[in-house]
Amino acid sequence: MTADHFFRRGLRPLLVFLFFFSLTSFSKSDELQPLLEFKSALQKSNPNVFSSWTPGNSTCSFSGIVCNSNGFVTEINLPQQNLSGVLPFDSICKLQVLEKLSLGFNFLHGGISEDLKNCTSLQQLDLGMNSFSGEVPDLSSLGKLKLLSLNTSGFSGQFPWRSLENLTSLTFLSLGDIVFEESPFPVEVLKLEKLYWLYLSNCSLGGRIPEGLGNLTLLENLELSCNQFSGEIPGDIVKLKNLWQLELFNNFLTGTLPVGFGNLTSLVNFDASGNSLQGNISEMRLLKNIASLQLYDNQFTGEIPEELGEFNKLVSFSIFGNKFTGPLPQKLGSGANFVFIDASDNFLTGPIPPDMCKNGKMTYLLLIQNGFTGGIPENYANCSSLRRLRVSNNSLSGLVPAGIWRLSNLSAIDLAMNNFEGTVPKTWAMGSSLLMIALSENQFQGQLPRSMANCTMLKYLDIGNFSSRLSVLQLQSNNFHGTIPKTWAKGSNLRMIDLSENQFQGELPRSMANCMKLEYLNVGNNQINDTFPFWLGALSQLKVLVVRSNVFQGAIKSPQINYTFPELHIIDLSQNNFSGILPTKYFQHWNAMKVVGAKKLKYMGLDLVPFTITLANKGTMLKYEKIPDVFRVIDFSSNRFEGQIPELVGSLKGLHSLNLSNNVLTSHIPPSLSNLTNLESMDLSQNKLFGEIPVQLAQLFSLEYFNVSNNCLTGPIPRGNQLDTFQNNSFGGNLGLCGSPLSKKCGDFKYTPTPPYPFEENQSLKSPFEFGWKVVAIGYGCRFVIGVVIGQIVIARKYGWFVKIFGKM
Ligand SMILES: *[C@@H]1O[C@H](CO)[C@@H](O)[C@H](O)[C@H]1NC(C)=O
Ligand SMILES: *[C@@H]1O[C@H](CO)[C@@H](O)[C@H](O)[C@H]1NC(C)=O
Ligand SMILES: *[C@@H]1O[C@H](CO)[C@@H](O)[C@H](O)[C@H]1NC(C)=O
Ligand SMILES: *[C@@H]1O[C@H](CO)[C@@H](O)[C@H](O)[C@H]1NC(C)=O
Ligand SMILES: *[C@@H]1O[C@H](CO)[C@@H](O)[C@H](O)[C@H]1NC(C)=O
Ligand SMILES: *[C@@H]1O[C@H](CO)[C@@H](O)[C@H](O)[C@H]1NC(C)=O
Ligand SMILES: *[C@@H]1O[C@H](CO)[C@@H](O)[C@H](O)[C@H]1NC(C)=O
Ligand SMILES: *[C@@H]1O[C@H](CO)[C@@H](O)[C@H](O)[C@H]1NC(C)=O
Ligand SMILES: *[C@@H]1O[C@H](CO)[C@@H](O)[C@H](O)[C@H]1NC(C)=O
Ligand SMILES: *[C@@H]1O[C@H](CO)[C@@H](O)[C@H](O)[C@H]1NC(C)=O
Ligand SMILES: *[C@@H]1O[C@H](CO)[C@@H](O)[C@H](O)[C@H]1NC(C)=O
Ligand SMILES: *[C@@H]1O[C@H](CO)[C@@H](O)[C@H](O)[C@H]1NC(C)=O
Repeated sequence: MTADHFFRRGLRPLLVFLFFFSLTSFSKSDELQPLLEFKSALQKSNPNVFSSWTPGNSTCSFSGIVCNSNGFVTEINLPQQNLSGVLPFDSICKLQVLEKLSLGFNFLHGGISEDLKNCTSLQQLDLGMNSFSGEVPDLSSLGKLKLLSLNTSGFSGQFPWRSLENLTSLTFLSLGDIVFEESPFPVEVLKLEKLYWLYLSNCSLGGRIPEGLGNLTLLENLELSCNQFSGEIPGDIVKLKNLWQLELFNNFLTGTLPVGFGNLTSLVNFDASGNSLQGNISEMRLLKNIASLQLYDNQFTGEIPEELGEFNKLVSFSIFGNKFTGPLPQKLGSGANFVFIDASDNFLTGPIPPDMCKNGKMTYLLLIQNGFTGGIPENYANCSSLRRLRVSNNSLSGLVPAGIWRLSNLSAIDLAMNNFEGTVPKTWAMGSSLLMIALSENQFQGQLPRSMANCTMLKYLDIGNFSSRLSVLQLQSNNFHGTIPKTWAKGSNLRMIDLSENQFQGELPRSMANCMKLEYLNVGNNQINDTFPFWLGALSQLKVLVVRSNVFQGAIKSPQINYTFPELHIIDLSQNNFSGILPTKYFQHWNAMKVVGAKKLKYMGLDLVPFTITLANKGTMLKYEKIPDVFRVIDFSSNRFEGQIPELVGSLKGLHSLNLSNNVLTSHIPPSLSNLTNLESMDLSQNKLFGEIPVQLAQLFSLEYFNVSNNCLTGPIPRGNQLDTFQNNSFGGNLGLCGSPLSKKCGDFKYTPTPPYPFEENQSLKSPFEFGWKVVAIGYGCRFVIGVVIGQIVIARKYGWFVKIFGKM
């Protein structure tokens, strides 16, 4: 006899009897004790909640308690009450008709005990957003459950997926944000035909998402993000006519969107970003109700369907990092609530759609790195809500609508790497929330408005006009000129200033020292006529100081107390008229240059922008798109420094590149340089150095470029290790040098052997120079020829948070 038979034939009367028995044997007053136990477990964390929970009051009047008409507790409702403690499930499950236990958004910890299995009347178990730990017990006895929410806790082990077979009444299942043991998609879920809510994001699930989800036709919300799902999106998902939210982001999904995807006409929120999906999105044209469409970081191709322009519910549209081509729909953004677009890093062309600012709500407009042409539409000047306008690295041209410079809510204006022209108006009046101005690599001209220097909120200023790219186009006469604005405000938040490659004249304004947070300063390639800016030495965060190729002059005196540039990583004084001895006293204080290696690979730059720089290294001018933070450089070349190379240079052990060439240095090469074990490039050429090359230099195992040519060195060239790899041109022009690789024989000089080569192949030893550089010129000497920049600047962005906010709207 099956259990079913038994139940139908014989057992029912018995059960009915038992039911009455239990009601009569379990009285209301028996519920007080379990509730008081519940109270005492949690009371400390929020006594107010429990002030009414006293024996003098009826249990049904306790706050958060709901009873049925017979006076039995059916609900405990205390979500979001800052409760912490360990839940006493043994007490709770003594409440025999408890249907709802709602304690979400608290700080409950400890485990969920096996006693939970006695809570057989439960229909809603709402414990999500707590700090539980331990394993989730078997739940198969809770056959009446309609809602099960355990998301976001520290559970461990495997979820008892098998229990779901018994929970056939479930409509709401939320098990996301729990680091379970890795498992495939739980097939038990596919039988829960009443589900309308399924949240399994961030749940350590892998393998394929199975066919069969399409049977759960009541599903309205399906979230499977942040797992390790691979393979294709199952085709039958398109049967989910009621689906309004589909989140699949951050998996390893491949293939195209399923055929018939356009049938999901209820979709309001679709996020498939961070996968490897491909193919076109033409079926999206049917999804008229979409408010948030997130497809970024995939490999989608083809054009954006024109119909998207008419989706008047669209709020957030993010497709960056794909391979879309063609124009954006010309009516895009005409809907009343459109606030966010990021179409960066695609192959989009054509004009910027003119209507995106019409609704007065547009906030983030990001079109970086595409092939957009034309200008910024005139009416964008009315875009008063705009906070980020970033259109760098396109082929935009023309004048910037004047009103753009007066948008008071802008926090970032990034027009870099286009062909914009005209001046920045004197009436520049951008608001106090400005964090970034990037106008580099355009054809702007005229003087800078004085008020630009007084943007106290500003963190990043890049008006380094024509790049080497444009210098090839001979646009020198179209540059910013005049003096650098003088009134740099106290309390400034500026962290990066790049004014390089313009025609600025006059002095460096002393008020720049007001920018106490400055980390990066590049005024290279201008006509600044000044002495060494020792007064910047007080800036305790200053990492990079580049004044290359200006008319700086005079000696560098000993540092004053507290003016020592303590955080310098990169200093480039090359191609000026500095004279006198090398600034030995500073070397003592440059502690950041003495640090070897780094715990974690990190790049220079700020949240919005990486720091890029052109530097001489290994005999070549290189444009670095990303600079590892460990990078340490001294370039004093092409000045009139004289006297000795101090022993102390050998203490700057973090140095990767040392360039003292083309000065008037007269000394031995100090053996202490052999302590610069990170050094990859050493250029001492074109000086008046004499004596022998120290044999100790053979210990510089990282050295890849070595140049002591055109000095007065004598004696045998030491051999061993890296030194054996350098050619004639490293040593030429020293009449007294002899031995290989020079043809001159050494005669009596004795060859000193050097220690064996200890280098091991190891990826982690990879040179920071290997990262992100592009050759911009070759043939570095006293005069160098600027070549053509190859490749584009990689723009790092950090607004995942923003996308998420809108993803949830
Ligand atoms: C009953 O609860 C109320 C708050 O709801 C509280 O003010 C009152 O003191 C309680 N009565 C007793 C006897 O504890
Ligand atoms: C919970 O704690 C937060 C922060 O202390 C407080 O703002 C909030 O009012 C508390 N909520 C309750 C219900 O006590
Ligand atoms: C749970 O129920 C079992 C029998 O079904 C009983 O033996 C046990 O004592 C109960 N546990 C609690 C804590 O009430
Ligand atoms: C997470 O848990 C809370 C509390 O149980 C619930 O309200 C919320 O809907 C859950 N989140 C998701 C995405 O399912
Ligand atoms: C789960 O369901 C099966 C079949 O419906 C039943 O035999 C079993 O007793 C249930 N398990 C529990 C613990 O209720
Ligand atoms: C995933 O869940 C874990 C554990 O709850 C949590 O720490 C982490 O922040 C979640 N990750 C995401 C991306 O939500
Ligand atoms: C989905 O439903 C079809 C037809 O009702 C059935 O044949 C199939 O087995 C179901 N799939 C799953 C995984 O339950
Ligand atoms: C989409 O819906 C149409 C009409 O309801 C139907 O004919 C078609 O088969 C559906 N396509 C898919 C792939 O389900
Ligand atoms: C900067 O602007 C503020 C407010 O507009 C003003 O009070 C301050 O004097 C200005 N500072 C300088 C150095 O111009
Ligand atoms: C630099 O300034 C000094 C004095 O201010 C002046 O004598 C000199 O001619 C200037 N040099 C150049 C190259 O402009
Ligand atoms: C140097 O800085 C220290 C600490 O900020 C300060 O106490 C000292 O007065 C400063 N010395 C000079 C000469 O400014
Ligand atoms: C190299 O550094 C060590 C200590 O770090 C020091 O003892 C030694 O004198 C230095 N070598 C030279 C040649 O300066």
